[in-house]
Amino acid sequence: MNDRDLAAAALALLHGNDVGAFIKPARLQYPHQWNWDAAFIAIGLRHVDVNLARRELSALLRAQWRSGMVPHIVYHAGPSDYFPTPDFWRTSGRPHGGAIPSSGLTQPPMATTAVRLLLDASDDDDGIAFARELFPQLLAWHRWLHTARDPDGTGLVAIVHPWESGTDNAPRWRGPLAGLGEVDPPAYARRDQRHVPEDERPVADDYARFMHLIGLYRGWQWDDATLWARAPFLVVDVLFNAILIRADADLAEIASRLDQPHDEIDAWHSRGVRAFRERLWDEERGAFLDIDLRSGKRPAADTWVTFTALYAGVADARQAERMVDERLRAPGRYAGMRFGLPTVALDDPSFEPRRYWCGPVWINANWLVARGLRAAGYPEDASRLASHALELTRRAGFTEYYDPRDGSACGAQGFSWSAALVLDLLHDPDGV
Ligand code: DGY
Repeated sequence: MNDRDLAAAALALLHGNDVGAFIKPARLQYPHQWNWDAAFIAIGLRHVDVNLARRELSALLRAQWRSGMVPHIVYHAGPSDYFPTPDFWRTSGRPHGGAIPSSGLTQPPMATTAVRLLLDASDDDDGIAFARELFPQLLAWHRWLHTARDPDGTGLVAIVHPWESGTDNAPRWRGPLAGLGEVDPPAYARRDQRHVPEDERPVADDYARFMHLIGLYRGWQWDDATLWARAPFLVVDVLFNAILIRADADLAEIASRLDQPHDEIDAWHSRGVRAFRERLWDEERGAFLDIDLRSGKRPAADTWVTFTALYAGVADARQAERMVDERLRAPGRYAGMRFGLPTVALDDPSFEPRRYWCGPVWINANWLVARGLRAAGYPEDASRLASHALELTRRAGFTEYYDPRDGSACGAQGFSWSAALVLDLLHDPDGV
């Protein structure tokens, strides 16, 4: 398939997943709006239909909570065959909640970067007006993140559930999830294995722990202070903080183009950069690693998120070189399979090539890391990841993730961000 046909197929998929108010992340598996999915969708769409890209972000931010939190799932049209249903979360009627049924968790603020990229793409009157409209909401979200999720002002925020990272069952959560001990989840029935084979989805024990955490938090009325004080899962996630640091820089840039003050945002950014370098780098392992705030431990698993320090622009030259030499290019670790970038190192005992975030290649991971590699002075490695992403979608279609051994499709079919990010890679190859 040539580039033109690939772009046409990507756009057709996005139109097929358009439900009117927003674009759903996948044909069957994810019928509602997800937070970082909306951002990746808008990033791709900005090249071909800026109004649709704007609609996506506006729809997401309409679900913002009064506290400033922007939820990770928004049920614009009520329940569907997806579980958890809106009722399961028990978020409605909370004084700090939102007007649209939603989950009680958040996700990495990619939407801020999407707004910045939209502004770069069209800074005419409409583009400025759109950024002006969303800016106060983005600012409120960042302020919530930097206070509710970092009340001590350390510069790094913590997540309270693996779903907040977007990488639900990544092996780096095994320690923090084991720390929950015996769990007692509310009654639930999984529906995530209807459209996707069981061995490509989270294992039962992980899922029970996800539900247990939701059960606790809904019992605490989703109160931010209680979550911070009592959440048994409280982790400073490398991926979330990398995206936030980049988003803080983008928010400051939006503010400056709108002639708005940005000292507060600049302070978040510089504090975040400093803390990321000082606290998350592990010299012995040569990688940036999460910190479990409850146990003080770092994860044993070796996963792709270390490379997102390049996307955030926080790794120094020596750290970048170590990550690239000892990991990215090392056969048997992140190199050596037919397609990159595996989301878990090949030699890590937790690597499973077809199970969700335990090893498969994801287009957004390739995209984030490719952008970071280019910015850090590794253009050939960046281009390799970008061309793998394009080749995977040419061979196996726009699926949720791919088996790194042979590029075969895994997860949900008809997956929107795979299509949207292909549009971005085709239209803006120098961006990555
Ligand atoms: C799911 O249901 O698997 C989603 O990833 C939750 O965000």
